Amino acid sequence: MNAITPDGAAVPAAKTTGPTLETVLEVRHWTDRLFQFRITRPASFRFRSGEFVMIGLEVNGKPLLRAYSIASPSWDEALDFYSIKVEDGPLTSRLQLIKPGDQVMLGRKPTGTLVLDALTPARRLYMLSTGTGIAPFASLIRDPDTYERFEDVILVHGCRQAAELAYGEELVRQTREDPLVGEMTAGKLRHITTVTQEAGPRTGRVTTLIETGKLFEDLGVPPFDPANDRAMICGSMAMINDTKALLEKAGLHEGAVSEPGQFVIERAFVG
Ligand code: A2P
Repeated sequence: MNAITPDGAAVPAAKTTGPTLETVLEVRHWTDRLFQFRITRPASFRFRSGEFVMIGLEVNGKPLLRAYSIASPSWDEALDFYSIKVEDGPLTSRLQLIKPGDQVMLGRKPTGTLVLDALTPARRLYMLSTGTGIAPFASLIRDPDTYERFEDVILVHGCRQAAELAYGEELVRQTREDPLVGEMTAGKLRHITTVTQEAGPRTGRVTTLIETGKLFEDLGVPPFDPANDRAMICGSMAMINDTKALLEKAGLHEGAVSEPGQFVIERAFVG
């Protein structure tokens, strides 16, 4: 692990709290608005699937970091991230240009509420996401613990256009073929996709699919029920608020690691 010092000199233990410099291993651009990247993982970097961490670059001589959900499972040897590209975004306008071999900053303290320990036991787990809000679920659907705790794992992903669903589609395909968790996902992991700004096999906002009951019809399950269902929500602030209201209307209560509950929320990285 490299602490950030001008010359790589040893850093006194008390000062090793800032970000580390990690090497970019892979970059993949999915659309003109979306890309993913993989970086080295320090041996001492521990996290729980679903957590986020600060990621950044040095801009004008100063670190510029933003919260990013870790999109790889906690057993993986490197760290994956899935990002939007914002043309005039202070960080993403630069981050989208990274290439293998470049360095990015990685915070030392992953944290977050989209973790299995924040939910009480139940039969079914819904992962409700829009846009890059799928990232923490890219981690959780590859965590064996998810399948040990839940009988049904339902990943719901809404985007504007079908091209924006491709990352999630490949992720689910790879997860089903994964030597470690593939077998555990059989008959348990389901993937529901929907688009809002073009025609598709399924259209409408995630919230609309819930309100109209189409989500449950397509899955062949009863509507949200606090006895059987748990949920994690990740998307824009508006999407989180609207989805949370629907879960609360169905009688589910928000939880946290300190007090596990029936659903948890986290805002997707936006700029
Ligand atoms: P829509 O096209 O109807 O706005 P964005 O890229 O803006 O974050 O949107 C990603 C997806 O989330 C889009 O399909 C968008 O639908 C949807 N979305 C935006 N706001 C909400 C909301 N309040 N509730 C549910 N889905 C939303």
